[in-house]
Amino acid sequence: MRTNLLALSLLSLLALLTFACTPRTAISTERPPAEDIPVVTYADISSILDRSCSPCHYPDKQGRVTPLDNYKAVKRHLATVIQRVELPQDDPGFMPYELKREALSKAEIQQLKNWAWGGYRKG
Ligand code: HEC
Repeated sequence: MRTNLLALSLLSLLALLTFACTPRTAISTERPPAEDIPVVTYADISSILDRSCSPCHYPDKQGRVTPLDNYKAVKRHLATVIQRVELPQDDPGFMPYELKREALSKAEIQQLKNWAWGGYRKG
């Protein structure tokens, strides 16, 4: 009986540790089952970014900060992108910077997450 209790305590501790050590990024939280993730392609994503993140993140348009104008760059920076657009609008890190462009809607932020969860489809 006492060994059972010990085993149970150890198991609970292990479960707690596993939970505590699992990285939780903006992209990995609340991920639905694969069949429930709507199909989102880079074209969907890039039109949102084009509207709200240019010209600053578009070197072709004289943008001077981290480029977000191509598939590879957007994929690489997506976690940070999601983190920035989800900040409160009065946070200095909020993007679009100083609300100089239209903020992303909740649905558009969801599209960014779905794009990642769906495996970053190109087209
Ligand atoms: C008016 C110009 C402007 C617009 C529009 C803008 N940004 Fe920025 N962005 C900046 C500046 C300036 C910085 C650097 C300062 C900082 O990190 O806050 C920056 C930094 C960032 C960073 C951090 C980059 C890094 O390498 O760490 C991310 C991510 C980002 N922006 C995402 C976005 C997204 C997504 C949008 C569109 C929804 C957007 N920004 C719109 C000016 C802009």
